[in-house]
Parts: sequence; C-alpha cells; structure tokens
Amino acid sequence: DKDPRIHGIQSKIRVVPNFPKPGIMFQDITTLLLDPKAFKDTVDLFVERYKGKNISVVAGIEARGFIFGPPIALEIGAKFVPLRKPKKLPGRVISEEYELEYGRDCLEMHLGAVEPGEQALVVDDLIATGGTLCAAMKLLGSRTVERQAIICTSGVPLILDQRHSLLETVHHVNEMYIR
Ligand code: PRP
Repeated sequence: DKDPRIHGIQSKIRVVPNFPKPGIMFQDITTLLLDPKAFKDTVDLFVERYKGKNISVVAGIEARGFIFGPPIALEIGAKFVPLRKPKKLPGRVISEEYELEYGRDCLEMHLGAVEPGEQALVVDDLIATGGTLCAAMKLLGSRTVERQAIICTSGVPLILDQRHSLLETVHHVNEMYIR
C-alpha cells in the first residue's frame, strides 16, 4: 500500500551515473525541488507521519537535510537543529566522527540545542553506507531518550527508530541501532 505520491516524488529525482566519482549513481534532489507539488508532497508525507507525536526537535544533516528539515519542523511545531560539518558552528559543540569510503568525516551539533529527554527526528536526503546517519543519531542519542530518523531515499520516505525496520534496504542501518 504505497502512497500514490511516492511515485511522483521518485520520478522527479534525477539519477546521475558516475557522479561525483566513477561507480556512484548520484540521486539528485535538485530536480525534485524544481517541482513545487513533488517538493510539497515530500514534506507532507513526513509531516503526516510525525505531527502530534511529541517531537520537539528536527535535526537536519548538512547539506540536503537543511532543505527538507526546516519545512517539516515548522509544520510539526518543532525546533530545527543543524548538524554541520566540522568548524562551521560558532558555539561550543559536541562532535561525532564517522567513516567514509576513504578516510573520516565528522558532524557537529551546538551544545544546548537539544535538552535531555527531547524526542528528535533526523532528516537527510539519503542513506548510502549509513555512516552519516549513525553519527547523527549518536549525537542526538547522547541528548535524547528516543532516537528516530526519517530519510528520503530515492523518493521513498523511510523511518528508522529503535523499534521498527520499515524497509529491507535500511535493515543494516537499523541493526546498528537496535541493540
Ligand atoms: C550524502 C548524503 C548523506 C550522505 C549519505 O552527503 O546527503 O548525508 O552522503 O552517505 P552515507 O550513508 O554513506 O554516510 P555528502 O557526503 O554528499 O555531503 P554533502 O551533503 O555535504 O554534499
């Protein structure tokens, strides 16, 4: 029982082979943003799922989580917290390193942006290895009772949390968390 809007969303995501490196099928959401209905449908799917669920934080992962996160946050009445690449945030931060295909990267969050006990959603445009999402969830997990994440992978909204694995494709990511 797939939501009929998902096909429309999916059809607006441009797949660019071998970008930015050979072998990578880049999922380009800029083409989705050019279509106001598809963009709104994407936001609406998440809002419908999370409104009224006592979520007070939407955390967006740089860079595409900064596009989808804020409209979701405004609609569900939550604050927006950017999770940024290193050395971008001016205040005191907590950091979480993660593995890349080659080397390591890091996400940072301002201390005090999230209070203990708050329930957060993590928003990004996709999961590849899951490393980025894991780092985000660790940052929030150190501040929140429940950890949840919503992701839009190839136009299919996914939910990860401590209880559910909605789609087979994210099973490995879920496993890292559900222990
Ligand atoms: C992409 C994507 C996710 C991450 C997923 O970001 O937007 O954040 O990769 O990859 P992973 O699951 O293997 O960790 P990118 O690294 O292109 O950074 P950018 O958004 O700053 O361009």
